[in-house]
Amino acid sequence: MPTTPPAGGPVDAVSPLLRLTSRGAIIGQDAVIRQALVTLDRVARSSCTVLITGETGTGKELAVAALHDASPRAKRPLVAVNCGAIPENLIESELFGHAKGAFTGAHAARPGWFAKAEGGTLFLDEVGELPLAMQVKILRVLQQKEYAPVGDSHLVRSDVRIVAATNRDLEALVASGQFREDLYYRLNVVHVHLPPLRERRDDIEALAGHFLRTTCAELERHDLVGLSADAVACLKAHAWPGNIRTLSNAIERAVLLSTGPYVEPEDLPPSVLRASMPPPAASSALPDDGIDLRVAIQEYENNMIRQALDRTGGNRTRAAQLLGLQRTTLVEMLKRKGLMQRKSEPNGRGSRPPSGR
Ligand SMILES: Nc1ncnc2c1ncn2[C@@H]1O[C@H](COP(=O)(O)OP(=O)(O)OP(=O)(O)O)[C@@H](O)[C@H]1O
Ligand SMILES: [Mg+2]
Repeated sequence: MPTTPPAGGPVDAVSPLLRLTSRGAIIGQDAVIRQALVTLDRVARSSCTVLITGETGTGKELAVAALHDASPRAKRPLVAVNCGAIPENLIESELFGHAKGAFTGAHAARPGWFAKAEGGTLFLDEVGELPLAMQVKILRVLQQKEYAPVGDSHLVRSDVRIVAATNRDLEALVASGQFREDLYYRLNVVHVHLPPLRERRDDIEALAGHFLRTTCAELERHDLVGLSADAVACLKAHAWPGNIRTLSNAIERAVLLSTGPYVEPEDLPPSVLRASMPPPAASSALPDDGIDLRVAIQEYENNMIRQALDRTGGNRTRAAQLLGLQRTTLVEMLKRKGLMQRKSEPNGRGSRPPSGR
């Protein structure tokens, strides 16, 4: 029996699919994301440069895929380059390729990313990490549509669409002299910003349901029915600093840990559980005539412990997880507070019997 009724939808429910891209499904109903896709579709037919911004894990790579797929370049390559992951001394030859003998070890000519993306889309990810010297060279290709491979005096014509992405504040980098203003304006012809997950909380349930379905299918967890209402409430209360990527990881973990038939709060990462708890009494106003702080703290602690035990049907291991405590710490607190009898008391909510773990 689940401790709470399902809310995340059964595993076989259908999530709102905004777009199926070559790099995965875009799920959600948020108006800003819908508008982002409308903008990307509108500019897909041209070859204009597009800048995609957003915190880590907000779906920038999926957005680039949506743009490429909708463009006449769809049958040509989409080449993604992480500008922050290549040593500075290699970037130029990685981008533009090199001629045979251009430097020690260059035994043969080698094409660069521009050549590999010819006719298609070149995705410059983490563009804010590009060294200044490389920024000038990218600007030149954008303006003149040609480049010279390292060690080669011949210019090569280039027909690529450039899409740049960053989770950094490019305007601030421009202000501090770390990013060229002219390149910034050149990249920023069309700007699409993807909001963080905490600003599109209405999509959390659908995204969680989507990840639950895909993970259950991969791991063959046909016994898992869905997410409990409490689990969905926890997911919605969390701030998700790593955005959709960490939500996906949290659901994958929950599928691994869940005993079924529903994913319950205790199957979620402790950081997600803690976020869903009411803030300490600190947020309530101090009464005019004051309080006994020690008594108030004890009452708050006892209340939370009782709720955790109620919610887990007396399972101390799971209750400790809900409270962000070690099981031994919780047991020690129960003894000290004289709350030990809780474990064998009927909880009256039709939830799972205490497992004694
Ligand atoms: N709307 C969405 N629907 C379904 N899955 C999504 C959605 N947005 C992102 N994801 C998934 O979340 C993960 C992170 O997305 P993506 O790699 O596109 O983020 P990013 O913004 O490029 O992150 P980073 O800045 O860290 O590179 C991927 O597994 C992606 O498939
Ligand atoms: Mg990315």
